Amino acid sequence: MEYHRRQLAGRDLHPQTLMMGFGYDPALSEGSVKVPIFQTSTFVFRSAQHGKEFFELMSGLRTPREGEQQGLIYSRFNNPDLEILEDRLTVWEGAEAALVFASGMAAISTALLSLAKPGEIVFFNAPIYGGTETLLMKVLPRFGIQGVEFPGSATPEEIAERLREARAMGRVAAILIETPANPTNDLIDIAYMKELAGTLTDQPGGAPPLMVDNTFLGPLWQKPLANGADLVVYSLTKYVGGHSDLVAGAVLGSRAAIAPVRGLRNALGTMSDPHTGWLLLRSLETLELRMTRAGENAAIVADFLAGHPEVERVGYLGHLRRGSPQADIFRRQCHGAGSTISVYVRGGEAEAFRFLDRLRLIKLAVSLGGTESLASHPAGMTHIAVPEERKRRFGLLPNLVRISVGIEHAEDLVEDLRQALA
Ligand SMILES: Cc1ncc(COP(=O)(O)O)c(C=O)c1O
Repeated sequence: MEYHRRQLAGRDLHPQTLMMGFGYDPALSEGSVKVPIFQTSTFVFRSAQHGKEFFELMSGLRTPREGEQQGLIYSRFNNPDLEILEDRLTVWEGAEAALVFASGMAAISTALLSLAKPGEIVFFNAPIYGGTETLLMKVLPRFGIQGVEFPGSATPEEIAERLREARAMGRVAAILIETPANPTNDLIDIAYMKELAGTLTDQPGGAPPLMVDNTFLGPLWQKPLANGADLVVYSLTKYVGGHSDLVAGAVLGSRAAIAPVRGLRNALGTMSDPHTGWLLLRSLETLELRMTRAGENAAIVADFLAGHPEVERVGYLGHLRRGSPQADIFRRQCHGAGSTISVYVRGGEAEAFRFLDRLRLIKLAVSLGGTESLASHPAGMTHIAVPEERKRRFGLLPNLVRISVGIEHAEDLVEDLRQALA
């Protein structure tokens, strides 16, 4: 169909182009150039037989007939704003299918609950976003599902050994990696983790799926499915939403891989809503422009910070030491260094707080990937619930400040940082 056109004159169309129209037929909406907001909870069936057939498909009671599309039923199951958004998200990742959720945490928890049963293990890297850590270490254990972590700084052999320990504790239901990790920017090797998952083919149910949280670099600068991931999860609140005005999440993968996730989303009601879907469609039109500018600004800001006497160290993917294992992973799986920088100021929490409180343009707020620059203190904010001993072990240090660089003029950002560090 014309509105699902991916090629012109035999050439693939670029994602930037597809974001303006892919998946949307204006003829179905009075010729409206933009996708309207389908602010409705439910959809009228043409006949009772149609309604029954739509439900049969949604419930997986039969496979679709040649050319048959899932009909619209009810906005907990499907809605045009969410379906068009899901189609456009697949474009950036080269995924077969996508599902959108009310938040990144709704996406991660629904995906994990669709995979793991009581007595099973989720293997993950630490540090990881504080909300995900809480889910894995405090919430899922109440349902008999245990998170077992490996340090983001571990060597490949150490990760393999830790996975053997995890397997001895139970069936490994999923491997979840967040790369780069929030807030340290540790890179985890996606292809190697897939290889490790493949060493567990003899457990019941076979090798566990590899799930990658692509929030920090996706969808422009890292495409985990191409490196072997089975599922990609997102907080769309960050770069994809990009304007700090919504909360949403997504799961992407093959149709088969996301089928159980869709089933559980339908049951739990963790989907997004039409208005948020519409805001995200607007955001996707400028995604590449915003991320590109933010990435350019981040390089300038990171260079400035790395040369400042009050800064002990900067964690920025554009500064990885040539020939180091991290630089090797970067070369194989990243297309850009991102715009989230870890800054270790000289001193401890007091010095970090003084720096944060003196910023004038960069706003003191958690989150990242928005048009405006934000700065926060992970140990005291997003990761506050991580026990002190784990904070020390995984590098959540008191002098660590995280800066998400936005699309302001880089000179103004540097001036703000200079006066705050003075
Ligand atoms: C890497 C990462 N994953 C997931 C989340 C959770 O997303 P949300 O806040 O949209 O639930 C966050 C939030 O900061 C994050 O940084």
